[in-house]
Amino acid sequence: MPFTIKVNDNAHSVDVDGDTPLLWVLRDVLGMTGTKFGCGMALCGACTVHVDGIAVRSCITPVDSIGTSAITTIEAIGATAAGAKIQRAWLDREVPQCGYCQSGQIMSASALLASNPRPTDSDIDDAMSGNICRCGTYVRIREAIKQAAQSTGQGG
Ligand code: FES
Ligand code: FES
Repeated sequence: MPFTIKVNDNAHSVDVDGDTPLLWVLRDVLGMTGTKFGCGMALCGACTVHVDGIAVRSCITPVDSIGTSAITTIEAIGATAAGAKIQRAWLDREVPQCGYCQSGQIMSASALLASNPRPTDSDIDDAMSGNICRCGTYVRIREAIKQAAQSTGQGG
């Protein structure tokens, strides 16, 4: 059945079953392939997007649960204040290795920084623990989040 979902400030009409995971709608219907499929079971974080600013796993989010909420994906996160600072820091610290997990890492880190401009190590651990990196870029991820936080004023 048709659904209208708001992705990166654009309304899209999609004709899919209501239980279709948002990840498949983004990738296969809308052609937005920046968001990655890893496990399909909310275990790796590769598919992370924002729904009303909250980091969610799109692989287990049925499209009919979205309603009028605003979805933000990696394609547009650089247009947000926190996302721009995270992406800048990711480049400065040369965080990615193979890159496959990095969309999800950036989305989780951006959600953290937007809600908590001065995250502690513990805050970073809590926010990022569900994002797996098989290349082991965790040390650079932590450094990049700290760099972005240092360049973030009140309100993210
Ligand atoms: S693909 Fe969604 S958490 Fe792994
Ligand atoms: S950079 Fe390769 S899985 Fe994270």
